[in-house]
This record gives sequence, structure tokens and C-alpha cells, in this order.
Amino acid sequence: MKRKMLAAVLCASMVAGMVVVPSVAAQAEESKGLIGVAMPTQDLQRWNQDGANMKAELEAKGYEVDLQYAGNDVATQVSQIQNMIANGDQLLVIASIEGDSLGTVLAEAKEAGIPVISYDRLIMNTDAVSYYATFDNYLVGKTQGQFLVDALDLENADGPFNIEFVTGDPGDNNVNFFFGGAMDVLQPYLDSGKLVCPSGQVTKEEVATANWATETAQSRFENILSSFYADGTNLDAVLASNDSTALGVENALAANYTGEYPIITGQDCDIANMPNIINGKQAMSVFKDTRTLASKVVEMVDAIMAGGEAPVNDTETYDNGTGVIPSYLCEPVAVTVDNYKEMLVDSGYYTEDQLQ
Ligand code: BGC
Repeated sequence: MKRKMLAAVLCASMVAGMVVVPSVAAQAEESKGLIGVAMPTQDLQRWNQDGANMKAELEAKGYEVDLQYAGNDVATQVSQIQNMIANGDQLLVIASIEGDSLGTVLAEAKEAGIPVISYDRLIMNTDAVSYYATFDNYLVGKTQGQFLVDALDLENADGPFNIEFVTGDPGDNNVNFFFGGAMDVLQPYLDSGKLVCPSGQVTKEEVATANWATETAQSRFENILSSFYADGTNLDAVLASNDSTALGVENALAANYTGEYPIITGQDCDIANMPNIINGKQAMSVFKDTRTLASKVVEMVDAIMAGGEAPVNDTETYDNGTGVIPSYLCEPVAVTVDNYKEMLVDSGYYTEDQLQ
């Protein structure tokens, strides 16, 4: 269903008897289509940026945008998508809350012939997903793991070093790549005994954080500190998969730990974490420029809406249980106190003021 913007301006002369025709300008304003954008939550900074960037870019290209946030509630997201289908949205871009919970509603989208782009997180076990756009999630995890290897100089130092692990929501398929990528780098050092995990919590299930919530990561970490470090045991490193969970760890450390401060990883370069990165309380964060991802998705939308194929650069890695989903992977980069100005301020992502 093609929609016309209601603001069509009829600028024909008002001379009596003349046929009134839309001006060229009004024709150019015709909408290129209605795009549904379903985002998980406004609680975390990044999703606000993803949504806002995509809306602005899609509108600049002449699309109408139906942008919805679901407050991290799966049922809300399902009903938002149902409404998008009922409203005649022509393409859906979805960052899921739980990868496995959209099969039924997306069967309706498929039935209605609506293409679906899985945004940032892969939607699992449905053949209704046409494309996947994300950052290289495995590389995010590997970058975090390698950062710890280098910072602790694990190749040369004797150790052993104490490490704890914190990852995200078990229903988010990205966790398999973030945690898996990091563990592929770190496991050999755990096996050789150079890295030791005093809590013994090393499986994905044990180190998961429901909804990626800062408070949940914080209370789990408070327990770890009181059970395994209260006797003065030193904590050398924390593999935290993202910034919201890293912040929980940092809050727990501030109130419950007096040993030598550990090296902590993160992801997203959230504004909330930047003071800690600048003052040494978080060693790094993996920067995923949401502008890059949004632009790529807009390119994909444009190609699909024109009846063509979307650009992809990976057709092997992301199997959602129904087969490999053609993907576009953007590149993540490590940010530290040494390069944050160049990466975040000079690039216009943040202003210096926002980081104070
Ligand atoms: C995203 C991360 C984000 C996390 C929590 C993941 O799926 O890839 O960038 O930190 O969700 O929102």
C-alpha cells in the first residue's frame, strides 16, 4: 500500500476555471513507504540512538517511520509488531528483546509479504527474517578477551591472575558471540592455570545478567566480592560483555573492594561509563558507532523497497535455526582513555561536554 504524505500542496493558480494540479514539489514529497522500527527499550542509551538515527535517516530518504520501544517487555514488542503489520507497514526493522519469541508474529509478517531486517540481535528460529544487520559480535568478544590478554601480559607474566566474568541476557543471541568470542581467547589461559576464577562461575548460564540490568550485575558482583574476595584476595580482571553490566561491577567494587583495582572491559561507550573510562575505573569499551549501523540498515531498506537485494558482507556466520541469514557486519573498535577523544569527540559522536 503506497501512502502519500498528507502535506501535498496544491499550488495551481486560483484563476477560475483552471484545473488544479499538484506541484512538482508536492509530487516529490510522496512517501516511499511506511517502515516499522521495533526497538527493545529506552532504558539503555544505545537503543535511543539507534532508533533516532534510523528514523532521521529513513525520513530524509522519504520514508514514513513507525518507531516503537517495548520497555524490554516481550509481550509489548509482539503486540507492537502485530500493530505494524495491521497498519500496513511495508518493511520491519526489529531489534528483539528475546531472540526466540517472535516466531508466531513474524509468521504473520511473512504471510503478508513484509520483509524483516533483524537489527543488531538475530531473531531466532523463524524463516521470516530476510536479512541481519549488526556489528561483528564475535569480534566484539575477541577484542575484549585479547584486551585482557595484552593488559595482563599473559604471554609473558607468570600469574596466576584472578578473573571474574559477567555477560548479558541469555535470551539475546549476541551473548553467544560476545561471551563465546572472549572465551575462545581466554579459555587456554584458564586451562593452563595462568588465569584463575575464584568464584568458579565460568559458564554462560552462571555469568548471565537478565535484561543486561546494571542492578542485577551489581548484586551478583557484590555476592562474589563478599564470598571470594573479602579476605583480601586480589581481583585482577573482569570480563564484562557490555557497559551496563560493567557499570554494575564498578558500583559493586566502589563499595565493597579495597584491593588493587582490576582491568574491566565493556561495550557501547555509554555516556554513563565514560567518566569511569576517563578516570581509570574501566579500562576499555568496544565502540559500535550506531550511526554506521543505522546508515547501513537504511541502505538495505532502500534496496529492498526498490525491489532489489540488500548489501551483505557475510553469508556464513549467522544461522538462526532455519538457515544462514545474509548479514551485514559493521566493524567494532576498542576505545580506551588514550583514543576516546579521537573516536568519540572528533568523530562528532559525543561533545566534550557530554563526557564531563
Ligand atoms: C547489544 C549491545 C548492548 C546489549 C544490551 C546487545 O544485544 O549488541 O550493544 O549493550 O544488547 O542492550
